[in-house]
Amino acid sequence: MPTLNDIRSTFLNYFEKQGHRIVPSSPLVPRNDPTLMFANSGMVQFKNLFTGLEHRDYTRATTAQKCVRAGGKHNDLDNVGYTMRHHTFFEMMGNFSFGDYFKNQAIPFAWDVITKELDIPKEKLVVTVYHDDDEAADIWKKVAGFSDDRIIRIATDDNFWMMGPTGPCGPSSEIFFDHGDHIWGGPPGSPEEDGDRFVEIWNLVFMQYEQFEDGTRYPLPNQSIDTGMGIERVAALLQGTNDNYATDLMRSLIEASANASSTDPDGPGKTHHRVIADHLRSTSFLIADGVMPSNDGRGYVLRRIMRRAMRHAHLLGVKDPLMYRLVPALVGQMGAAYPELGQAQALIEETLKLEETRFKQTLERGLRLLDDELDGLPEEAALPGEAAFKLYDTYGFPLDLTQDALREKGRSVDTDGFDAAMAEQKAKARAAWSGSGETADATVWFDIADTSGTTDFLGYDTEVAEGQIVALVQDAAEVETAKAGQSVQVVLNQTPFYAESGGQVGDSGVLKTDTGRVTITDTRKVAGVFIHIGEVAEGEVVKGQGAELEVDHGRRTAIRANHSATHLLHEALRKALGDHVAQRGSLNAEDRLRFDFSHGKALTAAELKGIEEEVNAYIRQNAPVETRIMTPDDARELGAQALFGEKYGDEVRVVSMGREVGSGKGSDGATYSLELCGGTHVRQTGDIGVFVTLGDSASSAGVRRVEALTGEAAFRYLSDQDHRLSDVALALKARPEEVGDRVKALMDERKALANEVAQLRRELAMSGGCQAEVKAKDINGVAFIAQVLSGVTGKDLPALVDEHKAQLESGAVLLIADADGKAAVAAGVTKDLTDTVSAVDLVKAAVVELGGKGGGGRPDMAQGGGKNAANADAAIKAAEAVIGG
Ligand code: ALA
Repeated sequence: MPTLNDIRSTFLNYFEKQGHRIVPSSPLVPRNDPTLMFANSGMVQFKNLFTGLEHRDYTRATTAQKCVRAGGKHNDLDNVGYTMRHHTFFEMMGNFSFGDYFKNQAIPFAWDVITKELDIPKEKLVVTVYHDDDEAADIWKKVAGFSDDRIIRIATDDNFWMMGPTGPCGPSSEIFFDHGDHIWGGPPGSPEEDGDRFVEIWNLVFMQYEQFEDGTRYPLPNQSIDTGMGIERVAALLQGTNDNYATDLMRSLIEASANASSTDPDGPGKTHHRVIADHLRSTSFLIADGVMPSNDGRGYVLRRIMRRAMRHAHLLGVKDPLMYRLVPALVGQMGAAYPELGQAQALIEETLKLEETRFKQTLERGLRLLDDELDGLPEEAALPGEAAFKLYDTYGFPLDLTQDALREKGRSVDTDGFDAAMAEQKAKARAAWSGSGETADATVWFDIADTSGTTDFLGYDTEVAEGQIVALVQDAAEVETAKAGQSVQVVLNQTPFYAESGGQVGDSGVLKTDTGRVTITDTRKVAGVFIHIGEVAEGEVVKGQGAELEVDHGRRTAIRANHSATHLLHEALRKALGDHVAQRGSLNAEDRLRFDFSHGKALTAAELKGIEEEVNAYIRQNAPVETRIMTPDDARELGAQALFGEKYGDEVRVVSMGREVGSGKGSDGATYSLELCGGTHVRQTGDIGVFVTLGDSASSAGVRRVEALTGEAAFRYLSDQDHRLSDVALALKARPEEVGDRVKALMDERKALANEVAQLRRELAMSGGCQAEVKAKDINGVAFIAQVLSGVTGKDLPALVDEHKAQLESGAVLLIADADGKAAVAAGVTKDLTDTVSAVDLVKAAVVELGGKGGGGRPDMAQGGGKNAANADAAIKAAEAVIGG
């Protein structure tokens, strides 16, 4: 009996032998389809190959594709556990031809696989074709030898496959297996077709057309093939059952659930085990593909699946978290075919355990409330919407969980009442927002959030993605189109663009649709709606269009490096300065980073240098940057740095990087940096490149600011500095390493020369030099020397006055230095005369004439100055007048 894993390899190997490339499953979160919540069939990843937009180096491919049908249009969640064939997660096997072979080869391939490779008895099969597809019917006749009654013509959409409202499409042919008349049901097209007897196992789509928005259909450039085979159904029939949950893989998960809960897999808890087994697969694969539980979009679908499984575990009587304990069983079964599952095992277990632990706290109380509500109601009455809303809002019960709980009791929920209660709460949130005075334009974003939901952010994993334009806004009002040259704000259902928050600037880049291109200069968010701010550069963009979004990669790379470096800087500052260092603000832009933190005094040069060295050591460590989701309390317990006073949601992202060194723990040391952070980061610290601080300054009282550069900007800065040093060295005719000594030697030399010049000036002045000869005048019996000097400074005057005094033996001296029109004056009186003539009086009198004020000193030596050296003669006269009495 082939196992599910055997069937997968048989299928892929067969098509590989037929010249097909085995292509890995695409992630569950579609990268290239804006309208799709999750990959729901094998062709999704090949959409552009069918339409001819894209070409690869193969024209035949085969895949085992992960699919989730639990949100959006295809939603099987409510039925899982209660039927034999519904799943939230399943695998679709497929073979594809991109303009290579068409139906006359696709049908024989399928026939070969079914009858030869898988050995399914021919007499148990019937096929369908689209009612007018004679060609396919003829091929079936030839290949399978079927008579007309086993080739059923179907005129409905069941046999015309479309990817969605637009895109590649074409007639299809389905292969059905007959489980036998012991099961109720009829062949396709019959009134009993919904029974379980005839089961569709393989759909062959003959891709022939492309459908456009206005409903027109054009032939594709090349006819192609897309097929999808549900592996769980094929495994069931090959293993002699019509119940997908009885196949080897699902059974092993059910047994794991039974073992972990110490219950009977086939006892009264049978449905619970089936729900758990199915939901274990979808939740684990979604987490492995980057979806995290949240209250919006994909994350909310994941949360709903998780909580539904958790309620069923609770109904089994399990007290402790259960789901996370089943992950090893799933990895054992599917890890070889899907390596991403094993790689994410720790993350999956941690995420499940966290969700289970938290939900347990309210689950029991919620269920009690539900019972109380039902007790108070007349028999069979629907649960009032308000009660369902309270369960949702207070106890974390998604609506479908409440419905699932009521289903067993044959009751329903007043969903209109639930919607009304939800609308009322949203209105309150909006009122609170507008009351905060944040922005007068906020209403438009709340309206968009109400009608289109919030934006899914894909940018942690990708910088390129498609999104659907759900709103265009100009001047705070919604518009239908925006044309070339106009400014516009674009909202999409999903985006890789990061919206400014937590100090990280918003992304810029390009948005393209079939009809236009918008240059995005910034991204912000309000009420969970991401606003792409830009200008239409070409053509026009229209609400409802699909758009390709591409973040400016170089800019985002620089922003990432700065953001991650900020985390390392924060920790290095704490280590160097102490635990009082707390973040007070930050900026992570493309060209630089800035970090404000509490610290009372300026950093010394040595502290700054040490911090810079430490950050660079952790960059060189090239440690992976890891992200986890947890409750704020758990994060703080782990020691994560959080912003004081910041309000965090139920879950937080925790970003960690680096292994502590020098703690004696070597590479096994504790995590170096651990912070709550919603930003985007480098993969490994080595991606930061290099870190250089530009210095520390005061930001506000008690808050310091460090600015720094990383990566290319840091390199350019260091390189410029180096070039400047080389230029200086060249000018000094020295090697760069000698520049310091050489400059010091030059400074010493300059000082010595300056002293020498001063000395020479004095000597020159004393010897008369080019000045008029100095002769003492007799004034009132006092020998008086007065002289105007140029080429000396005020500082030189006292020494010159002293020299004159020494020569005079008895007398008075007045010297005026003329420095570019300004005057310095000094006067001296020999000791024997100071009782009658004071140098201070001489200077004061001179200063008045020189246009200055004051002047002072001792009776034997005084100094002063003035603006006007041209009045030197008048100043000398004034001094003479003082002596003359
Ligand atoms: N794309 C086709 C399907 O999903 C094969 O059924």
